[in-house]
Amino acid sequence: MIGITGATGQLGQLTIKHLLTKESADSLITLVRDPGKSQAMFADVASRHFDYSKPDTLTDALTGITTLFLISGSEIGQRIEQHANVIDAAKRAGVKTLVYSSLLRADTSSLMLAEEHKATEQRIQASGMDFVILRNGWYTENYTQGLQAVLDAGVLAGAAGYGRIDSATRNDYAEAAANVLTDISAHKGNVYELAGDASFTLQGYADAVSAVTGKPVHFESMNYEGYKQFLQDVAGLPEGFAHVLADSEHHAKDGGLSGSSDELHRLLGRATPSLIEVIKQSL
Ligand SMILES: NC(=O)c1ccc[n+]([C@@H]2O[C@H](COP(=O)([O-])OP(=O)(O)OC[C@H]3O[C@@H](n4cnc5c(N)ncnc54)[C@H](OP(=O)(O)O)[C@@H]3O)[C@@H](O)[C@H]2O)c1
Repeated sequence: MIGITGATGQLGQLTIKHLLTKESADSLITLVRDPGKSQAMFADVASRHFDYSKPDTLTDALTGITTLFLISGSEIGQRIEQHANVIDAAKRAGVKTLVYSSLLRADTSSLMLAEEHKATEQRIQASGMDFVILRNGWYTENYTQGLQAVLDAGVLAGAAGYGRIDSATRNDYAEAAANVLTDISAHKGNVYELAGDASFTLQGYADAVSAVTGKPVHFESMNYEGYKQFLQDVAGLPEGFAHVLADSEHHAKDGGLSGSSDELHRLLGRATPSLIEVIKQSL
């Protein structure tokens, strides 16, 4: 039985979609904060209530799960404790293999985001359970979701300078996860560095948007402070999230969002879509 946390989130939904092409619905269980939402999305897949912040409830919810996909939570700052709650419960419940969605080079990355992933990986490795670590790179959607605003303004703001971004779509990471989860014995003990084939700089992204849409887009290169302020004032993001995004882009200048590994390509058995293709699909 495969349990999937975060199944009502964006990566989780896509993972279930790919799993259902390979496994029968009765071999899957979603572990989510709102089982009703999960049932509305995947009527044939059983669902159990699961909140990373409620440690007393987690072990029972994991009964019968042999392979657990722990999708990292979204509550930045709380995740070391939350993920530890899940890992400890999985161990108690007899989960055999834990698969975790981590961050590219989580053990050495200078991104502020890496700290919680690194601590989670260490806890998993110390647990004694079999594991697979999927170190996901940056989502291409981090850019394409703001495409209309960029087109409206004719400006792409960013703090990555001319650092390369080797992102992939959530769909690519989800399909790779489904491939691992359904052939788990072939992957036990592996740590995968997952980077997309569509390598670009922000200038390259602006040029690609212009090429696809025919509208001029100027790349405005900002420093960390300027971009953080832009994300708060213009994009309307809360300060904490603006800090996370600006910090990640700032470190892209030193290769923080770049990865040369072909492991995502190999897990998928195909190349990830080109940047032009992803932009076209996003319009
Ligand atoms: N590589 C990247 O560029 C990148 C970008 C953004 C995020 N991420 C990481 O990747 C993860 C998955 O991405 P995503 O796009 O699917 O994010 P998402 O749509 O925000 O989904 C996050 C999922 O985590 C669940 N969750 C959060 N806190 C929880 C808790 N305390 N207990 C149980 N479930 C909890 C959410 O549950 P609900 O459905 O109930 O809200 C949701 O299903 C994120 O959570 C984050 O750690 C990576």
